[in-house]
Amino acid sequence: MAQAQSAAGGAAPLLSVRDLAVHFPAGRRAGRPVVVKAVDGVSFDLERGRTLAIVGESGSGKTTTALSVLRLSEPTSGSIHFDGQDLTALRGEPLRKMRRRLQLVFQDPYSSLNPRQRAGDIVRAPLDLMGIDPPGGREARVAQMFELVGLRPEQRTMFPHQFSGGQRQRLNVARALASAPDLIVCDEPVSALDIAIRAQILNLLRRIQREQGQSFLFISHDMAVVEHICDDIAVMYLGKIIERASRRAFFTRPLHPYSVALMSAVPTVKGGREVAARRVRLSGDPPSPVDPPPGCRFAGRCPAAAPACSEREPPLREVAPGHSVACHFVAVRDGAVTAPL
Ligand SMILES: Nc1ncnc2c1ncn2[C@@H]1O[C@H](COP(=O)(O)OP(=O)(O)OP(=O)(O)O)[C@@H](O)[C@H]1O
Ligand code: SF4
Ligand SMILES: [Mg+2]
Repeated sequence: MAQAQSAAGGAAPLLSVRDLAVHFPAGRRAGRPVVVKAVDGVSFDLERGRTLAIVGESGSGKTTTALSVLRLSEPTSGSIHFDGQDLTALRGEPLRKMRRRLQLVFQDPYSSLNPRQRAGDIVRAPLDLMGIDPPGGREARVAQMFELVGLRPEQRTMFPHQFSGGQRQRLNVARALASAPDLIVCDEPVSALDIAIRAQILNLLRRIQREQGQSFLFISHDMAVVEHICDDIAVMYLGKIIERASRRAFFTRPLHPYSVALMSAVPTVKGGREVAARRVRLSGDPPSPVDPPPGCRFAGRCPAAAPACSEREPPLREVAPGHSVACHFVAVRDGAVTAPL
């Protein structure tokens, strides 16, 4: 894989998203247009061969962010650079060519498979659709993908309903990998699976990444899953990223009150027990993305909120190398980071 160089001389990120906004028109109320601000100013980088997890509660904008990266949802503003090219500016043939490098694995392994298509044809379909002729031919590529994800060659003639849930997700992964993409977006890929099968699929994804070097944008609301799979993490709340860190830094010490609350809800994650001891309960629902509150969007649910929090919006600031957080009360004093919870 050709590695672009950044201005600083290191390898440039594979994916670079800046100030992404995705606003959906949703009719009119009291004579004024209603706009759902699903994603409202999101920036992040995804390095080559790494996994960035995007976590957050339902409705925080994770899927909309992912769909924009895949050009399946049109951004309202902002830029998305993939391997140095602005994806939002691509149209026609260049966009078609680019699509083979970006693939998606959905949450529900059944509804995303054509029930009348045989498994081998499902995996072959993207090659036919995009006119890709891999060395050795399309059928050889399909066989290779079956082997890679741990499906047996004779299963190529079976239909989706003849597979178990875990096997169907393996089939989805095989289909996503067929076009040899550089980036795979996984949107809650194990949420619909039994706990026992989850680890198998996560381990499969990790092994594939180790062997083939793809980058994963991994979307999940499950901290235990994220801890298992990611290198870096971005926490979303109501259309914004409120904390971004390496897995190690985040799971050692989450800094944003919302991150602490998410972690205390999952005592099984490493460090979760200590965080849980702080007993930060997340009550109520996030506000509406139609009229996000002024100031900090988490203020209405934050145990550390002060009056000033609702007046000014906290920017996402780097408080330690690679660790950024959007909270007025996370500070650096004498080289040490202090947090409100
Ligand atoms: N096409 C659309 N039109 C209008 N509103 C939308 C559209 N798609 C998403 N939304 C809204 O945007 C917000 C973010 O939705 P999104 O699906 O991105 O959240 P999510 O974080 O993926 O949630 P979940 O964990 O439930 O999958 C939600 O309030 C949702 O209702
Ligand atoms: S800015 Fe205020 S309300 Fe927002 S997370 Fe920090 S302490 Fe809580
Ligand atoms: Mg979603």
